[in-house]
Amino acid sequence: MEVVIVQDAAAGGQLIADSIADLLRRKPDALLGVATGSTPLPVYQALAARVRDGAVDVSRARIAQLDEYVGLAPGHPESYRSVVEREVVEPLGLDPDAFMGPDGSATDVQAACERYDRALAEAGGVDLQLLGIGTDGHIGFNEPCSSLASRTRIKTLTRQTREDNARFFDHLDDVPHHVITQGIGTILEARHLVLLATGEGKAEAVAQAVEGPVAAFVPASALQLHPHATVVVDEAAASRLK
Ligand code: F6R
Repeated sequence: MEVVIVQDAAAGGQLIADSIADLLRRKPDALLGVATGSTPLPVYQALAARVRDGAVDVSRARIAQLDEYVGLAPGHPESYRSVVEREVVEPLGLDPDAFMGPDGSATDVQAACERYDRALAEAGGVDLQLLGIGTDGHIGFNEPCSSLASRTRIKTLTRQTREDNARFFDHLDDVPHHVITQGIGTILEARHLVLLATGEGKAEAVAQAVEGPVAAFVPASALQLHPHATVVVDEAAASRLK
């Protein structure tokens, strides 16, 4: 695992956007795994700036969602499909058909999860998976004690994660209790994992993920098992590393 400490979130965004741009130069139809939440926004903004400058061609790039809320009405502005459309697909000018994600409104959720794992494999697998980290060490929405071999499935969000995400909704009660998330085993199949963590609030989770034992109690520690994992942290998020 490679750990890169940058000054701030903007610098992290630039660094990872460069890495994505390099990948797209080598493999123009790369499948990029995208996370939602606040952390990756500087990456998407930096990448969009490179597209506007003509520094990178994303016309053949493909996008795969990491997770999705269960039970939000289709088109809900906080569904992760809507967020990825708003923050990634539209600013980069991607073809909406080049965008795949789990179906959070499926009646048969289990079948939808299995379909998504199959679709990822049939698409050739994720080339670069961008990840954030929860304050409790989750990746995707694999909350503490998720199996390190898990596949895409439905998970219940912890109260802590629902409280962390309440800022995107009017009330805590509006935050869904369930999500479909790529499993840790699914995530580990991506060819390159890039985790970005910014801010003091992530410092403890980062220290446990990077320097603690590999343990289901800290899902992000599974990155230690991956042959090509890069953890980009700003100085605040790095503050508890030894
Ligand atoms: C979202 C996701 C989550 C977030 C994590 C951190 O798609 O996979 O693991 O990355 O909850 O969220 P922020 O970045 O909002 O602190």
